[in-house]
Order: sequence, then structure tokens, then C-alpha cells
Amino acid sequence: MLQKVLLIKLLLLHYATQLEINTRCHEDAQLMCLVPDIESLDFYSLTWHKLSETKQRLGMIRSVKNITTLFKNVIRSPEPRFGENFSLLMPSVTPEDQGTYECDITAKVGGRNRNFVIHLKVDECVSRPETTATTTELPHSKPDQDIPAWCSVVGYMAVALFKIALSLFGIWVIEAVCKRSSRRRRHMRDIHVFL
Ligand SMILES: *[C@@H]1O[C@H](CO)[C@@H](O)[C@H](O)[C@H]1NC(C)=O
Ligand SMILES: *[C@@H]1O[C@H](CO)[C@@H](O)[C@H](O)[C@H]1NC(C)=O
Repeated sequence: MLQKVLLIKLLLLHYATQLEINTRCHEDAQLMCLVPDIESLDFYSLTWHKLSETKQRLGMIRSVKNITTLFKNVIRSPEPRFGENFSLLMPSVTPEDQGTYECDITAKVGGRNRNFVIHLKVDECVSRPETTATTTELPHSKPDQDIPAWCSVVGYMAVALFKIALSLFGIWVIEAVCKRSSRRRRHMRDIHVFL
């Protein structure tokens, strides 16, 4: 039983805290800090970091006791700000904004610190082609560009749930096989006793 719980925890940890969202160039990106009950959580501070190529955590914006501080480690314009539920709002993203972001919650004394990692992908900025009579609708436009962020969140959750179901099934099969073989062994022993 303990093994089962551990396995599920590992799966959830891996799949539910590693999300990726895709945004089009010049659109606004909203990165949610998907920590349970964030809207009612009583924490000391919440900071959004961007991870540099050398995995350094560059502070972007922080809220301490509801007071927002903006850092200058990541220069972008317009400046990032907090959205609903302490999400990170970055207006008009470009591929420069692409990367890994981390939301770090520092708990009050006695509480538990939490963090959440999210990857942002930004599509290449294409200059709008001149609309002439000869240009037709691009047949190769990626259909998945229109998928809203929550869809990929739900998708990742579904994958996580599927993996959990799969591993539970695996455990069940192994247990069934083990039970049967031990029953058979016991049966053999009984025969020996009988003989
Ligand atoms: C935080 O600040 C916002 C706007 O400044 C205010 O509306 C809100 O009530 C504040 N929340 C708390 C818990 O102080
Ligand atoms: C923020 O949290 C509240 C309460 O859970 C939820 O109803 C709302 O949809 C959230 N906002 C966003 C933008 O997800």
C-alpha cells in the first residue's frame, strides 16, 4: 500500500508540476501558479523567477504581504505584473520570453514552502504577409496554436491520470500473479502434508 501511495505521489509530482504553455508572438501570456488553494493560502511571500540558461533563478516580481516589488533581473517591456491568483502576466510576449518560470511561495513560520514550474513556449513572430489576390489561406497553419492554455493543463492532467491508472493496473496484475503463485505454493505444501 505504501508503495502505491509513493508511486502516485511521484507521478503527480512529475506530471502535475511540470507544465508547458504555448503562446503566440505578441499575445499576452498568463502563467498560473498552480499550487492548491493558492487563493486562500496564507503565505509570507510569493516570487516569480525565470530560470536562466545556466539554471540561475532570476527574480522577476514578488509579493510580500500584498505589496508588489518588481525586479530588474529580466528586462522586458511592458513590465510583468501579477494577474488573478498571483499568476504572472507578461503582456505581448516574444520568443525572448520563452523559457522556464518558477513560482516560489515562502510559507509563514511553521508552514511549508511550495513551488511550481511552468515552461513557456512562444511561436516565432511572422510579419503578416501582404494580402493579395494570389495569397490563399495557409493550409499548413498549425491547428494546435489555437489551443488555449487551460486545454494543455487539462491535457497534462489527463496524461498524469492515465499513467496513474496504468501503474495501478500494473500493480494489480503483479499482485494477482503473486497471490496466485503463493496460493499454488501453499497448495503444493498442503499436498506434501497430505502425502
Ligand atoms: C491586496 O491588495 C489589493 C489591491 O491593492 C486589495 O484589493 C486586496 O484587498 C489586498 N488583499 C489583502 C489580503 O490585503
Ligand atoms: C482564481 O481562483 C478562483 C478560486 O479558486 C477561481 O474561481 C478563479 O477562476 C481563478 N482565476 C483564474 C484566472 O484561474
